[in-house]
Amino acid sequence: MTTVAQKIEDLREKLRHHEYLYHVMDAPEITDAEYDVLMRELKALEKAHPELLTPDSPTQRVGGKPREGFVRVPHSSPMLSLDNALGEQELRDFDRRVRGLLKDGEAYAYVAELKMDGVSMAVHYRNGKLAQALTRGDGTIGEDVTENARTIRSIPLQLKGHRANLEARGEVVLNQKAFEKLNAEQEANGARLFANPRNAAAGSLRVLDPGITASRQLEYFTYFLLADGAPAQKTQSEALEALKKLGFKVNPHSQRFEDIDRLVAFCKQWEEKRDSLPFEIDGVVIKVDSVEQQNRLGWTAKAPRWAIAYKFAARQAETLLESIEVNVGRTGAVTPWARLKPVNIGGVMVSRATLHNEDEIGRLDVEGGDRVLVERAGDVIPKVVRVVRQGEHRIPFRMPRHCPVCGGEIVRAEGEAVSRCINTNCPARLKESVLHFAARGVMDIDGMGEALVSQLVDSGLVKNVADLYRLTLDDLVELERMGKKSAEKLLANIESSRKQPLPRILSGLGIPFVGERTAQFLADAFGDLDKIAQADEEELQRAEEVGPKVSQSIRRFFHEKHNRELIDRLREERLPFKYEAKRKAGGPLAGMTFVITGTLPDLSRDEATNLIENAGGKVSGSVSKKTSYLVAGAEAGSKLDKATTLGVKVIDEAALRGLAEKGG
Ligand code: IVH
Repeated sequence: MTTVAQKIEDLREKLRHHEYLYHVMDAPEITDAEYDVLMRELKALEKAHPELLTPDSPTQRVGGKPREGFVRVPHSSPMLSLDNALGEQELRDFDRRVRGLLKDGEAYAYVAELKMDGVSMAVHYRNGKLAQALTRGDGTIGEDVTENARTIRSIPLQLKGHRANLEARGEVVLNQKAFEKLNAEQEANGARLFANPRNAAAGSLRVLDPGITASRQLEYFTYFLLADGAPAQKTQSEALEALKKLGFKVNPHSQRFEDIDRLVAFCKQWEEKRDSLPFEIDGVVIKVDSVEQQNRLGWTAKAPRWAIAYKFAARQAETLLESIEVNVGRTGAVTPWARLKPVNIGGVMVSRATLHNEDEIGRLDVEGGDRVLVERAGDVIPKVVRVVRQGEHRIPFRMPRHCPVCGGEIVRAEGEAVSRCINTNCPARLKESVLHFAARGVMDIDGMGEALVSQLVDSGLVKNVADLYRLTLDDLVELERMGKKSAEKLLANIESSRKQPLPRILSGLGIPFVGERTAQFLADAFGDLDKIAQADEEELQRAEEVGPKVSQSIRRFFHEKHNRELIDRLREERLPFKYEAKRKAGGPLAGMTFVITGTLPDLSRDEATNLIENAGGKVSGSVSKKTSYLVAGAEAGSKLDKATTLGVKVIDEAALRGLAEKGG
């Protein structure tokens, strides 16, 4: 008779096996539907018998809740990077150095592995079970991303046939197809595009919500196997074999070489073939095979002497730059770009390249009509590297004074490289403005997410943030995925946001350099939005922490016609323009500065801030010698380290409450 426990263990074994075949071997034996049936069966049994649930069950990949921050954990041994060899000569120089450091005539071999362009990560196993995953961090201390790593299907939750304590190091990558799919989704959601698969992998791994990592189709390729921070095998080639046996994914194209000429040929071959692979590679990593020899060769401060990265040359081509145009992004940033005579670079037709900003154009000294060298580095947007030959009839670039989308003024703030359209209602930046206005800590309109804002703006229902207050139930139920219940809830949330005090409204306007804190100081000093809108720069600078840069930005903002119209509209909506500074000059915490870090047991960040400010104290974002107290909760990170180093007093939530009542 099979017990439930046995049945559950059987299902788990089956699922692990099929996950391995699918995600590691790329050779599934059952269909997705068949897999789902097994998974559902296991889930049902675990639900009925919660006492049998274990963290290494295939059902437990996504379980973690979003966290507040990452915990920093030291690596078992440093995760250093590699020196680069650019071209054949430098690779041969490396080989000569290695030979010179070994004994006369001593035999040695290399293992060459493709250098996958992703982010490195270390995964620790205790008793054969996944225990912890760390990003590289600064090489000495990494960040704990265990919950995120668990969602990557090619990372075994349990090692095959092994109960040891081991560490596998490798690269988290996103293949080209998954990268393109992700960017298409980002675009559809109005979210920022990732520049290349590496950034996308990094951005998908280092997120607080494991659900996001789970949705991104990341893969993990391993290349080191360690025990107690040192190689677990005698040679690198054996390590790669051992990793495969343990159930890890290892790039199949590695090869062992005793002959440097063959090694050089291998590198060149892959440089030619790089586009035939499903994922980005940016070179070949070459390691001395014998660990004993590696130890003798040793390390410099930065990198091992026994390994090197042969870097591929960038993919470049020369073409005509026809003209320089501008594009207005979601933040109002006006970005110049080059219209190119279409040219084939490594199999992709390229007809535009980014020029970043005015300074970059100046640095390149590029004008319309020039012949330019263009580079595609696995990036979505290629870039102009340099001018090859100036054109006969050059057309210099001038940043337009008015936005090509809305006609609003384009301004480049002092000390900033980017020019921006400052009209908050500019269609190009409206979605971003609305999201910012509705965000938590600003107007706090719950439920106003990206998808909804996109619909509201695209349908023309919302042309500026004041329009939010005119939305009706009929308007909302017309939208996709919007039931009557959620529409009513949303309207209620919009309604209650009308009560948000002036500092919130001010920071909600998205005036450059006016965040939460400055908005508070402005409200304290003026007590009236209309007064702020009319104040000249000198008057504005009477507010705490407002200098010339901020006051100029505020003046510019209220000078723009569309923004003044927006203020009129908000007044019509009867949002509270007047404000009575509630901060007491005295109070038990007067004169003290606090920094909050980690998760407090009962108070949210906002609540703790309110508590401190209501008692006359100040809250700052970073620890310095001037900090009076660091309020630390669970999973406090670098701020706690810094406070300890500087000798700043560290207190918990209970002590904070005590201080706020009685004073220090
Ligand atoms: S070995 C000390 N092997 O390239 C040894 N790295 O600068 C360092 N990479 O940070 C790593 N594929 O992110 C190694 N087969 C491979 C690799 C590889 C990609 C990345 C890794 C590392 C960087 C080297």
